[in-house]
Amino acid sequence: MSIRKRTAILISGRGSNMQALVAAARAPDYPAEIVLVLSNRSDAAGLAWANANGLPTLVLDHKAYSSRSAFDDALNSALETANVELVALAGFMRLMTAAFVEHWRDRMINIHPSLLPSFKGLHTHQQALAAGVRIAGCTVHFVRPEMDSGPIIAQAAVPVLSGDTPETLAARILDVEHTLYPMALRLVASGRARCEGEKVIIFEDVKCESALYSPSP
Ligand code: GRF
Repeated sequence: MSIRKRTAILISGRGSNMQALVAAARAPDYPAEIVLVLSNRSDAAGLAWANANGLPTLVLDHKAYSSRSAFDDALNSALETANVELVALAGFMRLMTAAFVEHWRDRMINIHPSLLPSFKGLHTHQQALAAGVRIAGCTVHFVRPEMDSGPIIAQAAVPVLSGDTPETLAARILDVEHTLYPMALRLVASGRARCEGEKVIIFEDVKCESALYSPSP
């Protein structure tokens, strides 16, 4: 095993979180190395960026496989061929089989743009606005077979402002995703964030803001 954890990033689209992880991993003391960017869509904008930036990339088109498990088997082979140790999902829009998820248990993380366990699934910003919450955010978690569930590694919160649309809220959350995800991958890759039962213990002095008020007092 290398000292820097060999990490694959799985994308389906824009890839802005992938870019944030790649940028962080350029630091020589970052504990993860991005060894593969894999997309299930050949037209993903993030894939073009990864190619232009000299990253190893691979496309596995899910439509070319007869079943979800056939696709997951191919995915698994690609990851094992690249000697991947950690998987970071970054806008990867495919549900995975329980067998695949269990195989990568505690070695696969995801970012979701809500404060889980609230607002799982799609249209999460619309869900948050419809619920009328005053604080929204994002979560990095270990992946479990049930969608958008699993032990929480880190979260970031932002205010919901009057007049927000799903787009303005998404942009405010995306901005903090780009800080949260590299930090969370650093904790996991360095072994400082570990699952104990279904909770994550962080083995370093954790700094936190004292509170976010929305509206401010
Ligand atoms: C992000 O909001 C992420 O939280 C969610 O999908 C979106 C992907 O955006 N899982 P990008 O492709 O990283 O720009």
